Order: sequence, then structure tokens, then C-alpha cells
Amino acid sequence: MIQSIFMLPNFDADQLAAINSTVNTVVTAGAGSGKTSVLAARFIRLLRTHDISVDQILTLTFTNKAAAEMHERIHQALQRETDPRLVKESTQFHKAQISTIDSFCAQIARNSSSLFGLAPDFSIDEDALTRLIDELAFDTALTHAQRPGARALTARYGFHGLADGLLARVGSHYLSLAEEIDFPTLLARQYDALLAARPLHCRAFTDAAQTLYADYRERFKTVADNAGPLSRAGTLSELFAAGRFTDIRALLDALTFRKPGGRSSADGEIVKGLIDRLREEQQHLASIVTAYEEEEFIRDLFDLLALFQRELAVRKRMRKLVSFQDVARMAVKALQVNLPLRRYYKRRYRFIMIDEFQDNNHLQKELLSLLAERGDLELPRVPGPSELEPDKLFFVGDEKQSIYGFRGAQVDIFKALKKELKDHGGRALSFRNNYRSRPGLIEFYNRLFAGVMHSPSLPFEAEFEPLSACLPAGKIRPQIRLFYKPVADTDADEEDLSAVEAEALTVASFLRDAVEKEQLMIEDHGAVRPL
Ligand SMILES: Nc1ncnc2c1ncn2[C@@H]1O[C@H](COP(=O)(O)OP(=O)(O)OP(=O)(O)O)[C@@H](O)[C@H]1O
Ligand SMILES: [Mg+2]
Repeated sequence: MIQSIFMLPNFDADQLAAINSTVNTVVTAGAGSGKTSVLAARFIRLLRTHDISVDQILTLTFTNKAAAEMHERIHQALQRETDPRLVKESTQFHKAQISTIDSFCAQIARNSSSLFGLAPDFSIDEDALTRLIDELAFDTALTHAQRPGARALTARYGFHGLADGLLARVGSHYLSLAEEIDFPTLLARQYDALLAARPLHCRAFTDAAQTLYADYRERFKTVADNAGPLSRAGTLSELFAAGRFTDIRALLDALTFRKPGGRSSADGEIVKGLIDRLREEQQHLASIVTAYEEEEFIRDLFDLLALFQRELAVRKRMRKLVSFQDVARMAVKALQVNLPLRRYYKRRYRFIMIDEFQDNNHLQKELLSLLAERGDLELPRVPGPSELEPDKLFFVGDEKQSIYGFRGAQVDIFKALKKELKDHGGRALSFRNNYRSRPGLIEFYNRLFAGVMHSPSLPFEAEFEPLSACLPAGKIRPQIRLFYKPVADTDADEEDLSAVEAEALTVASFLRDAVEKEQLMIEDHGAVRPL
């Protein structure tokens, strides 16, 4: 039925299952498998099967471009409808709630900005805010340069370590108008966590040290060189218990490893593995020692952070300036504490659909959970999976395409969401066909991803399912060129180019050659020509 009216091609059975799903649903599928097309088709299906208007469906995407495209796709599809009710809805399409998650959050934050002492006409300007934070961090570092904590930090990391490394960084990543951080409580929790982690690190270090010492002392020079301190590693927890931090540091500092070179052997690999573990634990233990030795300074720095937080909040309010992160946090907080506001939004949207969900973070998941809270509940917190409406949410995404890690996007959130919804009456679907790429490419990706993504049980690793190519083979046989940067297993700290620089350079040179030397053939309106 959908195919006859809808402008998009005939949907396959997997796609139809998603379009017609009547419970909370997550669709995970690879690139070009029709996820966005399905989301658009589902919009029309919801209008047909429910007595709702276009503005009762909230559709969220990640970029402005995607939102504009989605708007266009759905609008065009709706204009083809002949049912009088849908024709009427089509004339009301300017009211449709299709936007980026950022601008949706901004809408909620503006409606409730007074909760945060902020005027509703605030501007969201990341650059201006960064400048404000940098200036305030500089001023604060300068004004408080003589505090014990500031002096200790500056002695080790310089003035910029204090101004940029600590204050500005905390200011832009962690401080928001939505909620004040209680720094003294945070510090107390950190020390509790440290105390709990200490024995584990001691044990891991001691175990690795003793294995090395006992089994490999004779054969590996690097182990023999460190035999003295390795033999004493067993006393670590006693030293901690006695508060002899200087001795612990001396012990840790006495160990310097060079991995065994020469031809690789089974034992050599074991020794390398043990050395890796020891180095890692060495760092953990050293930072635990620092935390104890410098507790007084750390406490003072936390006080300084509390002061910086207050001053930053005043300036943000005065300048009416916030970041996208502020806005998202304000939106979640407002929905959490302002029950009438939550009720309003819950009733306003009968359905919520989100594209590219792999790029969302924990905060955005909370926002959606609040909006999808069951009608008969008004919890004083973010609802859990069993407290959601059973048929309100529809997520689509592709774990392998997660590109917003720098904003906190996490594959594990997407994976956890799938499981949660499934365990509570929802569905997790996937698509098996690719409609965008030529068969040669798909075959390659299927093989490549199957080889790379082999631990789907790990929470942070993307799951992979092969796709079938649905486009016919083109006139050009696809060629795959794999660029890789070998990782040298040496102990050199520095390499000429960073991975990112090397990638940029390789791709740029490849493209230049392709254009200048006419190496790359493309298919253009059925004809084959050089790019
Ligand atoms: N059943 C189908 N038959 C033929 N073509 C289809 C079908 N489903 C989708 N397509 C086409 O495949 C292309 C890719 O679809 P779409 O953009 O919806 O994929 P996607 O999964 O959202 O991709 P991405 O992961 O890149 O966001 C589009 O041109 C779409 O029209
Ligand atoms: Mg898409």
C-alpha cells in the first residue's frame, strides 16, 4: 500500500517492518540501506494510521543540512497524498517539527531560561564563549597565582597549565549554567574512588612484576636490569598502608623498561605484554601517589575551580552567552525539574523519530527518555526503559558511522539503547540491502568490516552485519585502494607525522594525482570519463 502512493521506491520486507512497526523501535543498518528513506515513509504512515497532525511528530536529525533534506523529502511525499485529511495536513506542513537536536534543545532552553537566571534572548556562540572562558581563565590564574594550589601547578606545568590546561578546559567541558558542580563533594568522591582502586592497581602491578622477575630474569636483559626493584614490588601495598609515598615513587621511578628487540619469539611477546601492563600500572600508581602527596594543593585547586565556576556563570548571564552543551543540559534539566513543562512536551508529541542516532550522547538519550515518559508518570528523575511509552520512539542509525566522538557521541549508548528497548517490549531491527553502492564496493566492505569488527560483544565496538548490493554493477570495475600507516613497534615517542596529518596528506595527494593525471575514471550519465 505504501509503495503505490509514496514517491520512494518499493520498500523491501525489512524496511516495511520498520515503517509499520507499532512499538518503540531501533533500526541499525549500514550506509545506503534506506534508513532515512524509511524514517520519511514512516512519517507518512503515522499520519495515515493515527488521527494526528504533522506537528505531533517530532523528527530530529543531527545537522541542519540533514534536517532541511528530511523536511523536503517528507513534504514532497505528503504532497502526493490524496486522502483529504492528509491533503489538509500537507497545507499545514510549515508547522512540522523537523529540526536538529540542538535547535530543539534551544527551543526548550529558551522557554525555561529563567530557571537558570538567564535571559531568553541568549545567544549560542561557541567562539565568543571560548574567548570569554579563555579571558576569565587567564584573569583568574593571574589574580590567584599565589594560592598554594596555583603555585604548585604552575611550578610543574607553567602558567598555561593553570589557565588553559585546567581552568579553561574545565570551563568549556564541564561547567554549565544548568547545574552547579559541588566541588568539595566531587573531590571527596574522587578520593573514595582512589582508595577503592588502589589495591587493584597494586595487585596488577605486583603480579606482572613477579611473573617477569620469576620467569624471565635470566633470559631478558631488560628484566635483569630491573631485577632489584621488581623483586621489591610485592611490598607496594604495605608501603601505601604506611603512607610511605616517597618510597613508592622511588620504586616506580627505578623501573625503566626497554622492550626486547631481535626476532620475535613467544616468550619475547609475553615479556612485551607484561611490560605494557607494568607501564600502564606504573602510571596509575604514580598518579595515586601524586593525589596523596599533593592533597593540600589539589584541595586548594578545587576551591579555585568553585570560584571560577561562580564567576563564569555571572559572566555568561551578563553577556547572555552559552554553548550548545549548555543548551542541551539546560533542556534536560528543565524537563527534569519543571513538571508542567515536561507534561506539555509529552502531550505535544505523540511520536518521536531520530535519524543518525549513533552520533548522540548520553544527554540526548536522557532528553528523549523524558519526552517519552509514560503519560501516567511524572518521575522526579529521568525515566528508565520500563517507564517509557511503549510506542513513541523510533531511532535509526549506524554504529559504524559514529563521527561525533569529540562531542561525546558513544557507540555504547546506541548499543545499550537497543538492548533496553528490546528487553521492554520494543524492537531492534536491521536492514540487509544496500541501495546506494555498486556490488564491488559492498563486497569489499563486507569483507573488511567482518575482519575488523570482530568483537561485537564489547560495549564500545560497532556491530557489523553484511549488506547485499542491490544496484547493478556499473561500467567501471570498482578499485579499492587501501591506505594504511604502519604502526612501528618501537619505543620512539615521536613520529614525523601524526596519524591525522598522514591521512590528510595521503588523501590530498591521491586526489591531486587523480585530477592532474586523469587517473580516476567515473561514470557520468552513463558515459565513462576521467574525473
Ligand atoms: N527499497 C529501496 N529500493 C530502491 N532504492 C532504495 C530503497 N530504499 C532506499 N533506496 C535508495 O537508496 C539510497 C540510500 O537511501 P538512504 O539515504 O535512505 O540510506 P541511509 O541508510 O539513510 O544512508 P546513510 O547511512 O548514508 O544515512 C537513496 O537513494 C534511496 O532512495
Ligand atoms: Mg541516512
